[in-house]
Amino acid sequence: MAAQKTILRALAGETLETPPIWMMRQAGRYLPEYRATREKAGDFLSLCYNSELATEVTLQPIRRYGFDAAILFADILLVPQALGADLWFVTGEGPRLSTITEQAGFDALKPAGDIHETLSPIYQTVRNLSGALPADTTLIGFAGAPWTVATYMIAGRGTPDQGPAHALKAENKPLFDALMERLTEATIEYLSAQVAAGAECVKLFDSWAGSLKGEDFDNYATAPAKRIIKELKARHPGIPVIAFPRQAGDKYIGFHEETGADCVAVDDSVSPEWAAEHIQVSGCVQGNLKSSHMVTGGEALVRETKRIVEAFRNGPHIFNLGHGITPDADPENVQLMIDTVRGA
Ligand code: CP3
Repeated sequence: MAAQKTILRALAGETLETPPIWMMRQAGRYLPEYRATREKAGDFLSLCYNSELATEVTLQPIRRYGFDAAILFADILLVPQALGADLWFVTGEGPRLSTITEQAGFDALKPAGDIHETLSPIYQTVRNLSGALPADTTLIGFAGAPWTVATYMIAGRGTPDQGPAHALKAENKPLFDALMERLTEATIEYLSAQVAAGAECVKLFDSWAGSLKGEDFDNYATAPAKRIIKELKARHPGIPVIAFPRQAGDKYIGFHEETGADCVAVDDSVSPEWAAEHIQVSGCVQGNLKSSHMVTGGEALVRETKRIVEAFRNGPHIFNLGHGITPDADPENVQLMIDTVRGA
């Protein structure tokens, strides 16, 4: 039997001499080959639902860089769409959705078990990738966490402070809780289907967890993650889960234990030395180079990359950025980061 894949070894708690590496948004607009395939597909959503082309863009960064993991090409907002919300992307601005601010909007949503028909092309992409990836590359599936997805469904778009979602939570808690419940169930269904199709690990993106404070964080970030992870592991024993409660600050401490996540991904608002001391003591950590280094490159990129590898060297670590790579990044800086991590 071949040695187990490096990402899976780190997720199992092993300290590796060289940390495995992949990158959030590694298939994206900074790559000319991505832009060419996206052009062929038409718009972004057509690319997500075209299994053949979605497979192709997932493989592009693997071919170019030899990352240790591939992440399924899709989007967290496909789940609201599969529940019946309208979804479209405005070029240069981002996503737009029909809003859920009243009971009637919620009542029109489908049950969680009905999402699979819409999402079946995504499962086909996972099956394609499962057969197409190099033997040492781990396939990561993903979903948005309920709170982050709810912020888009309530506001109908991205918001700087998630104000509309906080307002609904304060003004109509039964409706807000019902939406969180539906999203929790749908997330379990979606991730479970990805694992059944061949995903070897899944990641839960809670990009806006940082705007939940105190008990709200416990109730709407920690509790849903715990439930999703528990149910997923009951259905698929041993499936590793990466949780990313972005900008959780002090709330990162204990997140492994409280949720049962195998790995906690950290953003770049915390230092790697702090994260090693307070988070890595509980298990595998993923992160956390500032994505702006992929634009600026040079000596600072090399220095910060080495600093992160050094800070996390005494425990399980998966090297990654603190957030997604941006379209203005230089593909050569990605290579420089990889070479630095691998000591080339
Ligand atoms: O990481 C990967 O390479 C896998 C694919 C992936 C995408 N989106 C592709 C994408 C993943 C994991 C996501 C997650 C996602 N999507 C999140 C959570 C992570 C995060 O970044 O905080 C969120 C909040 C979304 C919602 C979303 N999708 C927004 C706000 C936008 C528009 C912003 C932008 O960059 O234009 C998207 C579009 C999107 N999702 C693109 C990609 C490659 C760009 C689409 C294009 O080609 O025009």
